[in-house]
Amino acid sequence: MTQVSSLYLHVPFCRHLCNYCDFYKRKYDPDSSQINDFHQFLEIGVERHKKLMSENGVRWSELETLYLGGGTPSLWGERGAEFFKGKILSGLTLKKNAEFTMEIDPGTWTKGLIESWQSIGLNRISIGTQTLDPHFLKIMDRDHTLEESHSLLKFCHENDWNFSLDFLLGLPFSKEQKRDIKKELDNLLQYKPKHISLYILNARSKYPHIQAIPDDEFIREEYLLVSEYLKNQGFHHYEVSNFSLPGFESLHNKKYWGSESVAAFGPTGTGYFSLGHDKALRYKWKVSEAEIEQESLGASEIDLEKNYLELRTSEGWKPKNPQKMGCLIKSWEQQGYGKWTGEKMKLSSLGFLMLDSLMDDIFRLEAKY
Ligand SMILES: C[S@@+](CC[C@H](N)C(=O)[O-])C[C@H]1O[C@@H](n2cnc3c(N)ncnc32)[C@H](O)[C@@H]1O
Ligand code: SF4
Repeated sequence: MTQVSSLYLHVPFCRHLCNYCDFYKRKYDPDSSQINDFHQFLEIGVERHKKLMSENGVRWSELETLYLGGGTPSLWGERGAEFFKGKILSGLTLKKNAEFTMEIDPGTWTKGLIESWQSIGLNRISIGTQTLDPHFLKIMDRDHTLEESHSLLKFCHENDWNFSLDFLLGLPFSKEQKRDIKKELDNLLQYKPKHISLYILNARSKYPHIQAIPDDEFIREEYLLVSEYLKNQGFHHYEVSNFSLPGFESLHNKKYWGSESVAAFGPTGTGYFSLGHDKALRYKWKVSEAEIEQESLGASEIDLEKNYLELRTSEGWKPKNPQKMGCLIKSWEQQGYGKWTGEKMKLSSLGFLMLDSLMDDIFRLEAKY
């Protein structure tokens, strides 16, 4: 029987809808029935989820990781902690020291909020910092102030929280207006974060500043500069977009990258049940009703995903047939994309940046045989 020990919950509202963001969310209106509707969605969802688990022979084991993402989970407030404990966690057990993360928008935090979630097990915070330059914060259409970022970072540092922060690259106008990435990083690191998620801005064609997005060469230099900088400060580049101090990798995300089962709740929340080596189920919550869309995966789809997921992390990719991939691996090594250990291909920071094109190389070679 498959056991699931990880849980993701998507909180689908934000105080302000940033113009670059593609996550599912609605504008938060405290005077509407939004929170009650969300609670109803989750309550029906819990029952629907029980059925899904029993249909697939899946049961809960002690929870090892919990992750509240969004949207803006911090907007759910103290009321959210009460609901989460009573309606989602009831009947579930948290393993001792289970990793329990909440994403917090710096404009929405209070000490009371953090303490109420801490009292039900929260022990990791992920801060939506994005940039520490006030000019770029504005360009990025963020609703929070720089002072709010600094006060949350200071709080986390002073209270010795295990915390991560999101940092964005490839911002519009950063070439012309000479964004000083190193200065921002110096500033951020004074708070001693344990983990940093580094995202390259993914701008759609309708993005208002699409014309001002820097070219690929500029973004490549930025990414490699940040990677070098963080590695020199003792961080490990352990996944394409993630750096951590030793022992502070995101255990929750490692479950996804290791193709392990992760349950999900909330509109657009996506869960995965690994049902043996040649069978898996991916499911996604609809937004209009607490109903689920399901996709069954077979051996070849699981294999393909595994290649991609293994390549993204520093654990490395173990090809099924290394001989077949020999010339590819050699050419990647020659171009500085990574190192072959004799068993696994471990990508360098440059290799991580080239991930999509390396996956294309694998497809092309697979298709040849
Ligand atoms: C759900 S949000 C984080 C929590 C909170 N809503 C906030 O923004 O502070 C997760 C992260 O995704 C990143 N993100 C959102 N849209 C993105 C985009 N178009 N390209 C790259 N990263 C993006 C941002 O760095 C953001 O902090
Ligand atoms: S606050 Fe976060 S989730 Fe909400 S729109 Fe902005 S980046 Fe997206």
